[in-house]
Amino acid sequence: MRSDYVSDGLLALGKLNDYYGAINHIVHNSQKSTHEGYNIMKAITRSTYGSPDVLTLSELDKPDPNDNQALVRIRAASVNPLDWHVLRGTPRFIRMQTGLTGPKSPKLGVDMAGEVEAVGKDVTEFKPGDAVYGEVWGAFAEYVAVSETMLAPKPSNLTFEQTAAIPVAGYTALQALRDKGQVTPGQRVLINGASGGVGTFAVQIAKAMGAEVAGVCSTRNVELVSSLGADRVFDYTREDFTLEKDPYDVIFDNIGNRTMAEYRRIMTPGGVFIMVGADGNKGGYLNAMFKVMVLSKFFSQSFTTMMAKANKQDLLAINRMIEAGQVTPVIDRQYPLDQVPDAIRYLEEGHARGKVVVTV
Ligand SMILES: NC(=O)c1ccc[n+]([C@@H]2O[C@H](COP(=O)([O-])OP(=O)(O)OC[C@H]3O[C@@H](n4cnc5c(N)ncnc54)[C@H](OP(=O)(O)O)[C@@H]3O)[C@@H](O)[C@H]2O)c1
Repeated sequence: MRSDYVSDGLLALGKLNDYYGAINHIVHNSQKSTHEGYNIMKAITRSTYGSPDVLTLSELDKPDPNDNQALVRIRAASVNPLDWHVLRGTPRFIRMQTGLTGPKSPKLGVDMAGEVEAVGKDVTEFKPGDAVYGEVWGAFAEYVAVSETMLAPKPSNLTFEQTAAIPVAGYTALQALRDKGQVTPGQRVLINGASGGVGTFAVQIAKAMGAEVAGVCSTRNVELVSSLGADRVFDYTREDFTLEKDPYDVIFDNIGNRTMAEYRRIMTPGGVFIMVGADGNKGGYLNAMFKVMVLSKFFSQSFTTMMAKANKQDLLAINRMIEAGQVTPVIDRQYPLDQVPDAIRYLEEGHARGKVVVTV
């Protein structure tokens, strides 16, 4: 676990690489549709890096699915900090994947839920009319073509809006707790940033794993985090969670606003610190990666970063928790497709309560 920081740095770029492989395909198929002169869809696009002001609602050709893909009519999407990082091209190192001089792809958005409209000839698991969800580049649009290996069935007890809230935040929480934290029943888990997109999943998934959970948020979110199952909630405007007496086995950090010495103080001797998020615009993620790398060499505790990886198996695992009533996505605001710029502006303020959803 201690050498994970190297692979995680590469994974950050690898994740974008996965997306950009998909983009090339979508753009290619889009050109085919232009040639045929039919099948127009609405999508949010941009031609330059910048603020949400550079986004426009455009008409593009509907993608044609290849033999292994399903064409999905998107009903809802959700917004992640990833979207505004890619929109702005920050931190700058991501431009190695997203385009050095300008964005390689005009499209944006990754989380979506919708209905299968058509399938390629080799698709076996899904058929037209099936309700599905997953992570695919270009989710702020009416349609996407997506490999069936990246799709999961929509949980039967959720709406499309709730389902679109799941992918990035859901499997980030799951992979951090299960794979990095290796959380076992009875362990004490602290989630810094418990009320946002990732945090609201993390609290519920940690509880589903049998952990004793503490969450950190501001006053207005204390009730929410408590209602998600947290056994203890720290209101960061009133108390300092790093002065806690009883140490934690796992610290899940979405915020990166405390020093590593402060975190060490509240970790058990064999405890695990997982850096999930930090302020990327101020170089926070790279700084924290460096600190994690150094600390891991000198202390018994583990310090690790993580970069979530989209995969169908984890969506299916989350589906099971949802259908068992252990996890329910939390939705803050909903915006129509043409108001994606406002949705991103709101998320960028850093105080969303759960997920911000786009209805399509
Ligand atoms: N490593 C990965 O694979 C991965 C994947 C997904 C996301 N991320 C990163 O993880 C982070 C969280 O993502 P997200 O989707 O949850 O973002 P988000 O929804 O924008 O998070 C907003 C939440 O952060 C809370 N917050 C803000 N300042 C805080 C503070 N000082 N202490 C505690 N909570 C605070 C806010 O609560 P209050 O309003 O109560 O302050 C709000 O509920 C981001 O940095 C994102 O880039 C990483």
